[in-house]
Formats: sequence, structure tokens, C-alpha cells
Amino acid sequence: MAAAVQLRLCGVFLIFLFCLVGLCQSLFSRGDAYKRQLSVELNPGSRPALTDGDLLHVRAVGNNDTLHFLFCSLGAPTLLLVHTSSSNSTVTVDWLQFLARNTSGTLKVEPESSILYSTAVVFSRLWEYNDVNDTAHPTSELFPPYELQNFTWSHLNLSGSSALLCGVAATFVNGTLCFQLSVFASEGRGQSLPHLLHSANSSQLSWWLDGVLPQATRSRFLLELQAVGGAYPLSRVDVHRSIDDEFTPSIFKVSQWVSSMNGSSEVLGFVQWKPVAYRQSNPALENATPCRHTEPQRQSGEAVAAASGLIRAFYSEPQTFGLNMSFGLAGDPFYNSTKFLGWTMLVGVGSPPVDSFSPMVLAIMAVGLGTPMILLLVGGLWVCIRKMTVDSTIAYEPIN
Ligand SMILES: *[C@@H]1O[C@H](CO)[C@@H](O)[C@H](O)[C@H]1NC(C)=O
Ligand SMILES: *[C@@H]1O[C@H](CO)[C@@H](O)[C@H](O)[C@H]1NC(C)=O
Ligand SMILES: *[C@@H]1O[C@H](CO)[C@@H](O)[C@H](O)[C@H]1NC(C)=O
Ligand SMILES: *[C@@H]1O[C@H](CO)[C@@H](O)[C@H](O)[C@H]1NC(C)=O
Ligand SMILES: *[C@@H]1O[C@H](CO)[C@@H](O)[C@H](O)[C@H]1NC(C)=O
Ligand SMILES: *[C@@H]1O[C@H](CO)[C@@H](O)[C@H](O)[C@H]1NC(C)=O
Ligand SMILES: *[C@@H]1O[C@H](CO)[C@@H](O)[C@H](O)[C@H]1NC(C)=O
Ligand SMILES: *[C@@H]1O[C@H](CO)[C@@H](O)[C@H](O)[C@H]1NC(C)=O
Ligand SMILES: *[C@@H]1O[C@H](CO)[C@@H](O)[C@H](O)[C@H]1NC(C)=O
Ligand SMILES: *[C@@H]1O[C@H](CO)[C@@H](O)[C@H](O)[C@H]1NC(C)=O
Ligand SMILES: *[C@@H]1O[C@H](CO)[C@@H](O)[C@H](O)[C@H]1NC(C)=O
Repeated sequence: MAAAVQLRLCGVFLIFLFCLVGLCQSLFSRGDAYKRQLSVELNPGSRPALTDGDLLHVRAVGNNDTLHFLFCSLGAPTLLLVHTSSSNSTVTVDWLQFLARNTSGTLKVEPESSILYSTAVVFSRLWEYNDVNDTAHPTSELFPPYELQNFTWSHLNLSGSSALLCGVAATFVNGTLCFQLSVFASEGRGQSLPHLLHSANSSQLSWWLDGVLPQATRSRFLLELQAVGGAYPLSRVDVHRSIDDEFTPSIFKVSQWVSSMNGSSEVLGFVQWKPVAYRQSNPALENATPCRHTEPQRQSGEAVAAASGLIRAFYSEPQTFGLNMSFGLAGDPFYNSTKFLGWTMLVGVGSPPVDSFSPMVLAIMAVGLGTPMILLLVGGLWVCIRKMTVDSTIAYEPIN
């Protein structure tokens, strides 16, 4: 009887041991090995010589699929992602019509039947407000917005699979507004803060406002973003909390603007960011400033198509949601203090990357939690084995 109880206890110990091993495995087996072959093409096809508005096409070919990243400065800067189920889908542009910005269907991804999903992000406006009472609420003293479609954009400066686009508004006294797009062949982490984790299915887009003379000493900024899609546009923002901030010090949150089918949990596409911006060109903890977003609101598809040449060309009925990203909280230094503001996000298809603990944190956890558990286990097993041997000897003694 007693022996059976002992056996059962030992069984429980063994199950516990297996669970522990399983947990360790699931913590350590991370990383996504999916790789893509990248090829970069500026203004694909035969484009007539002209003054402004570049179109960058990065083909990212996977095993059986292709992701087309299209970044365009014809009008408001726009990034379009098209995911196809074929490894040889192509992008064709009817340049004369495309530049006329008057009809849809002038940029096509073919074969059309291979398109699984598409999503786009348009940077439509930059708002500046005079935060006289340091509340960081853009309720009053809002200056007329800078319309990004009316900026003068430089030609795209390519290096590898990243591209730099800078522009100026007619009313900027000094300074520039720049975007940097990076497309990746495989999983990795951004080199500078906020060190976002990316995969082969996402691209990183950074934005900064450098050296612009503010219209007031106490100016702060808002950036208006529009997410455009076909059937399932990005429509809600989920904020996830984490107990770990090792990659982005002091930031324990990640925000995800996602699209999903009829509110199901499967995410088709996303924009992901950490709610932090930086007030220096070399981002560091000291110059971090929090940012906040407003809830996505449905916007006029016609307005966004008028602002962005790429949206007009690709979507016939753009479904659009917009939100404002505001930088700085009450009490934070104003733009004037450094005349620099920079922010980074990811745009991708499928589920957003999830940060996991680094090997260092895992090692600390293993030592901190593992040591007592191992002691407990070894102790438990020892007691089991001892009891069982004692029991068996006791069981045989009376016979002898
Ligand atoms: C690619 O597609 C083919 C045919 O559709 C299929 O047989 C194959 O398993 C797929 N390969 C991968 C890696 O998904
Ligand atoms: C891709 O192109 C090759 C030839 O160029 C063709 O044989 C193949 O069927 C194409 N595959 C798809 C999925 O269209
Ligand atoms: C756009 O197209 C409409 C009709 O298709 C035409 O009336 C209009 O002039 C065009 N606008 C431009 C700028 O080409
Ligand atoms: C700033 O505060 C003053 C005094 O509290 C108030 O009268 C004024 O309306 C406030 N200004 C703004 C823009 O909120
Ligand atoms: C921006 O450009 C649009 C279209 O060209 C024009 O209607 C609008 O007035 C411009 N806005 C500013 C502030 O210049
Ligand atoms: C392009 O970018 C590189 C670094 O990213 C920079 O050194 C170079 O001056 C830029 N070229 C132009 C024409 O802006
Ligand atoms: C604009 O930039 C130049 C060069 O950096 C500087 O000399 C000038 O003072 C700036 N102008 C203003 C109004 O800040
Ligand atoms: C990227 O996309 C491919 C193809 O859809 C998929 O197999 C892979 O799991 C995805 N990777 C991530 C990290 O989402
Ligand atoms: C920026 O701030 C400094 C110090 O507060 C001030 O002297 C300067 O006039 C401000 N610049 C502008 C453009 O308001
Ligand atoms: C989503 O809802 C629409 C109509 O509300 C329906 O036609 C469609 O089949 C639904 N899709 C899924 C995946 O449930
Ligand atoms: C962004 O903020 C400005 C100013 O408050 C507002 O006019 C605009 O509608 C907002 N945009 C979105 C998409 O919420």
C-alpha cells in the first residue's frame, strides 16, 4: 500500500521533470528560419524621364510565395506590401497613366489570382501645435498641417535593401523630414534603439524630423498615418505588455495595428511599434520620449488616393483607417530643445514578431528558478529511491 503511494509520488516527480524540460525547450527554441531572396529595382519597367516621384520595388521571394514591397514618393510617402502565393509574380506599371495619378489599375501585381493579401501605409500629414500649458494635448493652438503630398522629395538613395527618402516643405525654414525603409532577407533585430525584432515577412520604416525651425518655442508634433487595404484594412490597435525591457530600456509595451477577418484572432497584416521616439539622431535612453496613438478612425478612401500616387494606382476602392501618433508627454522637452525627433515601426504580413527573452535573461532565470527546482527534484528522487529500497527490504524481511 505504502509502496504504491511512493510509486505514485515518484510518477508525479517524473511528470514534473518532463514538464520542466518541455518548458525550457519552448523558451529556448525560438527564432524563425524563414528566408527570402531579395532583389531591388528602382522604377521598374521603362519609365519616362521625369522630375519627381520615385518608385522602389523590392521583391522578396520565399519558398512558394513572394512579398512585393513598393515604396513611392509620388505624393505622400507610401509603403505598399503585396503578398502573393507564386514565386514568380511580377509588378507591371503603366508609367504614363501612373504619373497622371488619375486612374486605378496602373500598377498591377500579376497574376492577379495569386494575390493573397495587400496592405499599405500612407504618411499623410505632420501636425505642429503650440503646447503653451505643457499638457501635450493638441487641443488648441494647432498650426495648419504640413501636407506630405506637397513636399519636395529627393530621389531615393539606395544602399543594399534599404532606401532613404528626404523631403522639405515649402514653409520649412531649415531642416528635412526623412524616411528610411529597410527590407530583410531573414529574422534579426534593429541595430539601434528601439531594437525592433523583424522577420523576413516585415520591413522596418524609420522616420525623423531633423533641424526644422519650429513655429513656436513650445512646439510638439503629431504624425498622421493612414492604413489602406482591400477587403481587410488595419482597423484596430492592440497594446501588449511585457515584463522584459532589455531591448528597449524602460519601455514595457508594444503596439500593433492589425487587420483581421471579421474580428477573428488571425492577423493578416500589421504595423508594429514600441511607444517611444528619440530626440537625438543617436537614440539613447536619455533622449527617449514616449508616444501615444489615437484610436483608428475610418477615413475617406478618395482623399487618401488623391494624396498618394501609389494608392491611386493600385487600389480601386481603398478602405482606409487613420490614426495620429503624438510625440512627448506633459513635462517632456519640446521639439526646440534638440530640433530632432525620430521614430521607428515595422510593417509586415502575417503575425507580428514577438519578442522573447534573450539567452542572458534566460540564463539568469534558469539559475534563479532552476537551482531550487533541481535541488527539490534531486531531493525528491533521492527520497523516493531510498524509501522504495527500504520498503522492498522491509517487504522481504519477514519471509526470511
Ligand atoms: C510549394 O508548392 C508545391 C505545389 O503547390 C507543394 O508541393 C510544395 O510542398 C510547396 N512547398 C513548400 C515549401 O511549401
Ligand atoms: C514560374 O515561371 C516558370 C518559367 O518561367 C514556369 O515554368 C512556372 O510554372 C512559373 N510558376 C508559377 C507558379 O507561375
Ligand atoms: C482625369 O480623368 C478624367 C476623366 O477620366 C478627366 O476628365 C480629367 O481631366 C483627368 N484629369 C487629369 C489630371 O488627367
Ligand atoms: C493655458 O492655461 C491658461 C490658464 O490656466 C488658460 O487660460 C488657457 O486657456 C490655457 N491655454 C490653452 C491653450 O489651453
Ligand atoms: C497641397 O496640394 C494639394 C493638391 O495639389 C492642394 O490642393 C493643396 O492646396 C496643397 N496644400 C497646401 C497646404 O499647399
Ligand atoms: C546616400 O546615403 C549615404 C548614406 O546612407 C550618404 O553617404 C550619401 O551622401 C547619400 N547620397 C545622397 C545623394 O544623398
Ligand atoms: C539654417 O541652417 C543653417 C546651416 O545649418 C544655419 O546657419 C542657419 O542659422 C539656420 N537658420 C535658421 C533660421 O535656423
Ligand atoms: C513568413 O511567411 C512564410 C510564408 O507565408 C511563413 O511560412 C513563415 O512562417 C512566416 N514567418 C513569420 C515569422 O511570420
Ligand atoms: C528655442 O529655445 C531656446 C531656449 O529655450 C530659445 O532661446 C529659442 O528662442 C527657441 N527657439 C525658437 C525658434 O523658439
Ligand atoms: C466575414 O463576414 C462577411 C460578411 O459579414 C462574410 O461574407 C465572410 O464570409 C466572412 N469571412 C469569414 C472568414 O468569416
Ligand atoms: C489628427 O489630428 C488632427 C488634429 O487634431 C485632426 O484634425 C485629424 O483628424 C487627426 N487625424 C486622425 C486620422 O485622427
